[in-house]
Amino acid sequence: MAAKAFGIDLGTSTIKIYKKGHGIVLDERNMIAIADRKTVIATGDEAFDMYEKAPANIEITYPVRYGVIADVANMLSLLTHYMHRLGGQNKRKIGKFNPISGISGADYIVATPFDITEVERRSFYELIANSNLKVGKIKIVEKPVADAVGADLDVMSARGVMVVNIGADTTEISVLSLGGIVLSKLIPIGGNKLDEAIKSIVKRIHNLYIGDKTAENIKKKLACALPTVEASVTVYGRDVVTGLPVEMEIGSSIVYEAISEYLYSIIDAVKMILERTPPEIVSDIIDSGIYVTGGSANIFGLDELIKKETDLKINICQDPTNTVVNGLGRIMEDPKLSSLADSLRPKNLI
Ligand SMILES: Nc1ncnc2c1ncn2[C@@H]1O[C@H](COP(=O)(O)OP(=O)(O)OP(=O)(O)O)[C@@H](O)[C@H]1O
Ligand SMILES: [Mg+2]
Repeated sequence: MAAKAFGIDLGTSTIKIYKKGHGIVLDERNMIAIADRKTVIATGDEAFDMYEKAPANIEITYPVRYGVIADVANMLSLLTHYMHRLGGQNKRKIGKFNPISGISGADYIVATPFDITEVERRSFYELIANSNLKVGKIKIVEKPVADAVGADLDVMSARGVMVVNIGADTTEISVLSLGGIVLSKLIPIGGNKLDEAIKSIVKRIHNLYIGDKTAENIKKKLACALPTVEASVTVYGRDVVTGLPVEMEIGSSIVYEAISEYLYSIIDAVKMILERTPPEIVSDIIDSGIYVTGGSANIFGLDELIKKETDLKINICQDPTNTVVNGLGRIMEDPKLSSLADSLRPKNLI
């Protein structure tokens, strides 16, 4: 790896960038706001602030969906913008080719989900290769590997580990051993599904329309994987019948009712992967437990629920939202881990 290197975790809801020797230098919403289908008017957290408030001519979107790059053009604009910002370039010069001292010639390593097609994996590589950034080497790391390294697990040993990353659009359940992936499944369930379920139950039970941001806030305050905690929050929305804005108290019991079905679907997928895991590795997992990462690992009581359903020890990792990007950082910093980053072989680039 060159002296200048960046590790990128392109998530559905957030993009995180690690700079070698510095740590996490960017952690923002992975969103873009475009006016009249052509002009980028805001990116990242600024675009998120505009979300659900902008007039019809401003479109605010997430270019990554379900763990893969769904909108290449907008993702490219976002990445270029973020990198120029990290390189310290004046905003007005964005778009012109002008190598910047802070990022010029830097190497990049990008985390990609494992359970995706070759074309989808290649698009992560091409995103950087086709940008107008002056890039050095581009390498790919499987997300579950970066996740395990970021969770402080010894991925090079012959000891099997299970990592479950519950993000915004996806949950990736993986079993690793000897620096490689034995099994991995990406399922389309994550925090966004929980937000949608909260929105629809609030509409059904309270006749109240709420926005995505309000639903996410309700989830962060009230979501509990077990029906034990009683709490409530006051939210604002629009009455379905009168169409007028109203204030209402939302209780944790309906939040539990909305989200539990999805939490059980995630646990079913975990059980399915456990059933397919070779017995010797299962015994390692029984010993050390399951490691849970991703922003949605913050849901209160999730460890208890998974433990109750699988009978295994559950470790919710510290700072679970950042395990992947911290893992990329360690892979860049520690020469013993550099073999975990892979250049895409030429046959994949045809
Ligand atoms: N305290 C919390 N309680 C519940 N959910 C949370 C909390 N903090 C963050 N989340 C949820 O975590 C998700 C974001 O996690 P993360 O950053 O790991 O996702 P991502 O990497 O962008 O998505 P993906 O990996 O699916 O592409 C969001 O759905 C967010 O609402
Ligand atoms: Mg993620």
